[in-house]
Amino acid sequence: MSGHSTYQPQSRFMQWFESRLPIGGLVHSSFVAYPTPRNLNYWWTFGAILSFMLGVQIVTGIILVMHYTPHVDMAFNSVEHIMRDVNYGWLLRYLHSNGASMFFVAVYIHMFRGLYYGSYKAPREVLWILGVIIYLLMMATGFLGYTLPWGQMSFWGATVITNFFSAIPLVGESITTWLWGGYAVGNPTLNRFFSLHYLLPFVIAGVVVLHVWALHVAGQNNPTGVEPKSDRDTVPFTPYATMKDAFMVVAFCVVFAWFVFYVPNYLGHADNYIQANPGVTPAHIVPEWYYLPFYAILRSIPNKLAGVIAMFGSIAILAFVPWLDTSKVRSANYRPLYRQFFWVFVVVCILLGWLGSKPAEGGYVIGARILTAYYFIHFLIILPLLGLLEKTKPLPQSIYDSVLKHPTSAGGKLEGEPVTASGRKS
Ligand code: HEM
Repeated sequence: MSGHSTYQPQSRFMQWFESRLPIGGLVHSSFVAYPTPRNLNYWWTFGAILSFMLGVQIVTGIILVMHYTPHVDMAFNSVEHIMRDVNYGWLLRYLHSNGASMFFVAVYIHMFRGLYYGSYKAPREVLWILGVIIYLLMMATGFLGYTLPWGQMSFWGATVITNFFSAIPLVGESITTWLWGGYAVGNPTLNRFFSLHYLLPFVIAGVVVLHVWALHVAGQNNPTGVEPKSDRDTVPFTPYATMKDAFMVVAFCVVFAWFVFYVPNYLGHADNYIQANPGVTPAHIVPEWYYLPFYAILRSIPNKLAGVIAMFGSIAILAFVPWLDTSKVRSANYRPLYRQFFWVFVVVCILLGWLGSKPAEGGYVIGARILTAYYFIHFLIILPLLGLLEKTKPLPQSIYDSVLKHPTSAGGKLEGEPVTASGRKS
C-alpha cells in the first residue's frame, strides 16, 4: 500500500531525469506521501533508529579499518594505536563498540514491540521472517567483530563458539577445522572473521531493503492491530512520521553519547584489554550482554549437542511465531491474558540474560533450566492455546474511531478533521 505519488519534478533537468529513472517518485511515494496509521506511538520509531544505527556502524567501521591490521601479531596493538595515536580514534572505536550494543538495545525493543502488537501476523509474516534473518546476521556480525581486537575474550569467545560445531555428529570436527582454517583459532581464523565482519553489514543493509519493501507492501501495523480502512485512518509519512522518527533518533543519540563519553567500557569486559594468549584461559568466559540469554540456554543443558540445538532452536522458533500464535486479534491491548504472558516472557528473557552472566554451577544452572523450559513452553504451548481459549476485548471499528472518538484519549481533544494520504484536508 505505497502512497499514491503526486510527485512533479520542478526543474527541466529533474523532469528529464525522472522520466528515465523515476527515483524521486519512488522516494516520494515511500517516504513522503506514504500513508501511516495515525495512531502510531513511539515504539514505531525504532525501525528508523535501527536504520540510523546501521549507518553509524558502517561509517565508523570503514574508518576504523583504515587503521586496523587483521594479523594475530598486530591486531591488538593496532587497536591500541587507534585509541592513542589516530586523531579521534578513541571516539571512532567507542562509537563502534558501544554502537553495537545500542543497535541490539534498539533491535530488542523493535522485536518485543512486534511481539506485543502482533505485527508478525498475516499479511506481515515475510516481513517478520526477514527481521529474524536480520537478527541472525546481526548476531553473527557482532560475534565476528568482537574477535577483531584479539584480546583474551576475543580469542576465547571465538574458541568456545566455534567449538559448538564440533558437537555435530560425524562431520563436526571437520567443520570446526574448516572454520578455523587450521587446527586451532589462529591467524587464518582472524583473517576470515575480519573479512566476514566487513561483508555482513552490507548483507544486512540488503535484507533491510527487502524488510522495508515488504513493510510497504503490507503497510504498517498499529497499536489497535486494526487495518486502516479509509484515508481517515492514516496521515502522510512526511511530516508526521519523519518528525517523530527524527525526534527519537536524537533522543536515542543522547543515551548513546552518554555511554560513549561517560562509561565507554561499561558494557565491555576488562579481560579484552589483555592481549590474546592461547596458554591462559580467563576465569570466566562471557559473551557480550546481548548474547547472554542464549548463552544461558546453551549451558542449561548438560549434553553439548542438545545445548547447541536448544540455543539455535530458541532463535529459529521466532520464525514460526506467525503460525504458533493462533489468535485472530493482533494487539495485546485487546488480549488481556496474552498481555500478562507477554510481560512474564520479557522477565524470563531478562532473567535468562542475568543467569548467562553467572558461572554455570549450582542454583544458576537449575534456574536456567527452568527458564529455558518456560521459554519454549511460551512459544509451543502458551501461544497456540491462548489463541483458542482467550476471551479478547472488542476491537474498535477503525483506527480513526479508536483515536478520535475515545472520550478519555488525548486524541479525543483533537480537531476531528480527516487528513488524506497526500496531506490535504479532505
Ligand atoms: C537492522 C535491523 C532492522 C532495521 C533497520 C529495521 C527497520 C524497520 C523499519 C524502518 C520498520 C518500519 C518502522 C517501525 O515499525 O519501526 C520496521 C518494521 C518492522 N520490523 Fe524491522 N528492522 C530491523 C530488524 C527487525 C527485526 C530483527 C525484526 C524481528 C525479528 C523486525 C520486525 C519488524 C516488523 C514485524 C515490522 C512491522 C511493524 C509494524 O508495522 O507493526 N525488524 N523495521
